[in-house]
Amino acid sequence: MSTRAYRGLRANTLIDHEFGNISTDLKLSLIEAYLKAFNTALRPQFSELWYIDAFAGTGDRIIKQGAVPATLLPAIEEKIERRRGSAQIALDITPAFDRVIFMEKNKRYCQALARLKAQYAGRRIDIVRGDANAAIESEIQAMKWVGKRAVMFLDPYGMAVNWTTLERIRKTEAIDVWYLVSLAGIFRQATRDPLKMDQKKRAAITRMLGTDEWVDAWYNAPKKEDLLGSYDEAYQRIADVQAIESFVEKRLKSLFPKVLPPKRLKNANGVPMFSLFLAISNPAPKAIGLATKIGNSILKA
Ligand SMILES: C[S@@+](CC[C@H](N)C(=O)[O-])C[C@H]1O[C@@H](n2cnc3c(N)ncnc32)[C@H](O)[C@@H]1O
Repeated sequence: MSTRAYRGLRANTLIDHEFGNISTDLKLSLIEAYLKAFNTALRPQFSELWYIDAFAGTGDRIIKQGAVPATLLPAIEEKIERRRGSAQIALDITPAFDRVIFMEKNKRYCQALARLKAQYAGRRIDIVRGDANAAIESEIQAMKWVGKRAVMFLDPYGMAVNWTTLERIRKTEAIDVWYLVSLAGIFRQATRDPLKMDQKKRAAITRMLGTDEWVDAWYNAPKKEDLLGSYDEAYQRIADVQAIESFVEKRLKSLFPKVLPPKRLKNANGVPMFSLFLAISNPAPKAIGLATKIGNSILKA
């Protein structure tokens, strides 16, 4: 992945967007590869190719490496590296998207996006400030989708995407959606001991998955054996990360005509943090075939 790295720049704590771990570069490189292949393949057939970034950020992100004080070795200064975020990556794609829509809740990040937009005079770039669920609902409902194809990137910090939003996207039959699902977020909310799970956590998972069937699927009283025979342990979450990921995949498959096996993204310690899904909303075999071919070649690479 090409990066625009500016070593040694000072951070601007007001607008800099510091996020990501080792899997962030991988995630963004997969998205970039898909966007490029998507536009290359569809450009001859469609005059309207759109990109919708529903959790757009600022266009770039900073990575800080802390200063190391002098010991026997000389001190090392703090290093700040800027890398492209998804919004910048999408604008750099060639062949270019005909329209790009950034959605972002944070006011200062929207201002950063406006400055990014100003660098691309003549391009159709819209910035919608607000909650992504509301923005997707109002924006894509107002659009006519005939003759258009789009890629949407859902890259929330946590469990911010409502199931009803996915239903809305599916209805367009025109959008391929890359959805970063926070396994760590779900794992945190679905506490092992169900008594520690309040109504708010319960509702957040149900809102994200569009069903409360996860309760029966993930919680049980496991059987244990001892010298006196078998007995039920306390009722608890028995689902591990794999079971949770499979449940999410099953739910997505119940909605979208095609969902590719996800890419698991881990943190520096090897702990699974996210699953990156590609779901295709267009049921036409040709559209599914193409998106699957591109998606698989990228996800399996
Ligand atoms: C992980 S970051 C996205 C990073 C971006 N895709 C990139 O590569 O630079 C999540 C972004 O979503 C924004 N955000 C959080 N909750 C949101 C919501 N409900 N609707 C829209 N944006 C939201 C945050 O301000 C943040 O910029």
